[in-house]
Amino acid sequence: MSSVHPFYTYFWIMLSCLCSVSAELVNQKFPDNFMFGAVTSAYQCEGGWNEGGRGESMWDHSLQENPDYIQDKTNGSIASDSYHKWREDVRLLKGLNAQFYRFSISWSRVLPSGYRGSKVNEEGVQYYNNLINELLAANVKPFVTIYHWDLPQVLNERGGWLNSSIVDDFVYYSKTLFELFGDRVKHWITVNEIFQICQTSYAYGVFAPFMKLPYYGGYQCTHNVLLAHGKTYKLYERQFKPKQKGEISLTVQSFWCEPETDSQEDKEASERFLEFNIGWFLHPIYKGNYPPSVIDKINELNQRSENAESMIPFFTSDEIDIIKGTMDFFGLNHYTTMTCTTDENSTVLPYFHSDAGVRVNIMEGKDSVVDIMRDVPWGLRKVLVWIKKTYNNPTVIITENGWPSSGIDLEDTDRVNYHKGYLAEVLKAIYLDGCNVVGYTAWSLIDLFEWSSGYKLHFGLVYVDFNSKNRTRIPRRSYYEYKNIVTSRQISTNNSL
Ligand SMILES: *[C@@H]1O[C@H](CO)[C@@H](O)[C@H](O)[C@H]1NC(C)=O
Ligand SMILES: *[C@@H]1O[C@H](CO)[C@@H](O)[C@H](O)[C@H]1NC(C)=O
Ligand SMILES: *[C@@H]1O[C@H](CO)[C@@H](O)[C@H](O)[C@H]1NC(C)=O
Ligand SMILES: *[C@@H]1O[C@H](CO)[C@@H](O)[C@H](O)[C@H]1NC(C)=O
Repeated sequence: MSSVHPFYTYFWIMLSCLCSVSAELVNQKFPDNFMFGAVTSAYQCEGGWNEGGRGESMWDHSLQENPDYIQDKTNGSIASDSYHKWREDVRLLKGLNAQFYRFSISWSRVLPSGYRGSKVNEEGVQYYNNLINELLAANVKPFVTIYHWDLPQVLNERGGWLNSSIVDDFVYYSKTLFELFGDRVKHWITVNEIFQICQTSYAYGVFAPFMKLPYYGGYQCTHNVLLAHGKTYKLYERQFKPKQKGEISLTVQSFWCEPETDSQEDKEASERFLEFNIGWFLHPIYKGNYPPSVIDKINELNQRSENAESMIPFFTSDEIDIIKGTMDFFGLNHYTTMTCTTDENSTVLPYFHSDAGVRVNIMEGKDSVVDIMRDVPWGLRKVLVWIKKTYNNPTVIITENGWPSSGIDLEDTDRVNYHKGYLAEVLKAIYLDGCNVVGYTAWSLIDLFEWSSGYKLHFGLVYVDFNSKNRTRIPRRSYYEYKNIVTSRQISTNNSL
């Protein structure tokens, strides 16, 4: 996949070897408060793109204009057809004994025009009411992502996340969801992966709206996304939380970046990598401003910028008041580990790595269908320890973790090893390092439209036959193995892996 979208590749990033797990921990149960779930997102699974009154999203629009953005030139217009097959998805979750289902709501299915004050689409609301009610009847908690990348096209035409006017549109959309579903939904994620919403979409041009605005795009977008998140959190806290008693947060995606050598320089490169990958988004929330390394970079870019429009904004103190303290838990998406070394002039992967002054390399380890992605379970533990140290041991929910493969792959031993290996490191983080991790979410429940990789790779515990009109679902071996873990609440040792 690197030949088409080298940068995207980088994001689906890492062997697990149960041999590295000490015997006592493998037999250790997960704590009582620990929840297991599985995840999808709307554009990747629903399909039904022009059914039931749904408006057009920027993914629909961009891929109609230019199918070449996607490696196999496909799109999510039908995807896994969950718009029609949601009952079957819920049956699969129930069969898994999953405690929660993380799914996202399509903004343009609920508010087809997207903007504040626009009309609610009752058929769309009915779809999510049905899904939520069926989940609750199956004893699976709905865990809702408000925004998983599918912006209404109307808002995209107004500049999308680069236009500060979107902040109040997002707050209105979120308020609509709290009013409609908040009596039953107790876990909310405002935005999934700010880095991908902003850098990958507005700077690298690899996700919709496929814009290439080096530097400015990613930083301006991040500014608006953080304000949208903060205002939404404050609204929920004030108007809904006292009655609905839910929790609300966001997710970030980060690899671990292992220093290439023991040198001080490489250790600093690893630290800067984390500051640009997590700190850029979460230092404002936990500490009240961007990390010093990011502030220095913005100052440097602004000194170089030629006109007022291309200046990258800092937060005012009023804005910091909106943003600070707005996470009820830390939502971590994690896939792999790479290595880091200092390189002021890194040009291998532009912008972000040169901003951070690091060069990243692919790790040793079991490889996958995604060239940079290696199975390196201990990297997850290191990220968790970094989070504990940097943000004063917040409650963490691992909101995504999964392994890619291609083909039908019903005997997906590599995926089973991956999940077991990573979960073993979660146990170590909890019991040996004192990290406050309370949840784990397998990406993904079923096979999905995987963005710029289309249908060429998948992460599902359940296979979906995208060539059948029926979008037939068949559970893989990983589904049954994960079910054993979820049910026994421990990583079993008595199998042949
Ligand atoms: C999605 O792909 C199908 C099959 O190639 C095509 O017929 C359809 O027009 C595409 N839909 C959109 C919204 O691009
Ligand atoms: C930003 O959004 C507002 C209102 O939605 C719109 O009036 C304005 O034209 C947009 N600005 C740009 C540059 O598109
Ligand atoms: C990095 O690039 C700058 C500007 O082109 C140059 O002055 C500097 O010597 C380079 N640094 C290294 C380590 O190559
Ligand atoms: C449709 O798929 C489901 C599983 O997803 C399967 O049980 C059913 O037999 C399939 N129906 C047809 C007609 O293939």
